[in-house]
Amino acid sequence: MNPFKKKSLRQLVANFRNEYLVHGIDESTLKDNPIDQFEVWFQEAVKSKVPEPNAMHLATATRDGKPSGRVMLLKGFDDSGFVFYTNYESRKGEELASNSQAAITFLWLELFRQVRIEGTVTKVSETESNTYFHSRPRTSQLGALVSRQSKPLSSRKELEAHFAAAEKEYSGKEIPRPEGWGGFCLKPVMVEFWQGRASRLHDRIVYSLQQETWIKQRLFP
Ligand SMILES: Cc1cc2nc3c(=O)[nH]c(=O)nc-3n(C[C@H](O)[C@H](O)[C@H](O)COP(=O)(O)O)c2cc1C
Repeated sequence: MNPFKKKSLRQLVANFRNEYLVHGIDESTLKDNPIDQFEVWFQEAVKSKVPEPNAMHLATATRDGKPSGRVMLLKGFDDSGFVFYTNYESRKGEELASNSQAAITFLWLELFRQVRIEGTVTKVSETESNTYFHSRPRTSQLGALVSRQSKPLSSRKELEAHFAAAEKEYSGKEIPRPEGWGGFCLKPVMVEFWQGRASRLHDRIVYSLQQETWIKQRLFP
């Protein structure tokens, strides 16, 4: 008998569960610096063909703490932090302008892994934003140019008309990076690596920055 016939998906959602039977985290193999450790896990996510391994959830909040979240693409990371690109006048852009605290979360389900990162966000340099903007396909550059991200739009037709007009205007010319579009870099103060394990006895290792030094700590799952 098909169980879905009797119960609705809404009733069944609590029963979705998997045993996570892959790797554990062995402290002795962890890097001293969470950015280096992120690189190891990111490489493993790429090797495991996780779809969109650089997709991450970004949480921001208003000055008075009202949170919001959305998915973004990571476009770079190094010792200074995690870089993503967006419209500075979008909802997230405005929230980050008044409250620079943010959190990003990666979910690599194929590996039963999660990475949580918290820190402070600043804009990247104009040179860095220009370089990245001009490395994008022309259609993406035009898309960024015409999008007033997060503002009301009367119809799909209006968006397509703006795009067509910009395509015509900049035909054969370099497309300028809109001033209101660029990169942000989240400088981490906390990075947590979570590995799903059997019987919900998951591994969690938190790196926290204390007086310029990264301290590792295992947490209860
Ligand atoms: C897989 C995926 C990747 C995305 N990447 C970006 C991105 O890199 N930059 C961006 O501005 N929006 C990206 N978006 C769209 C955002 O989720 C969001 O809709 C948009 O940035 C507006 O958010 P806001 O109104 O909170 O500012 C992506 C969405 C998805 C589903």
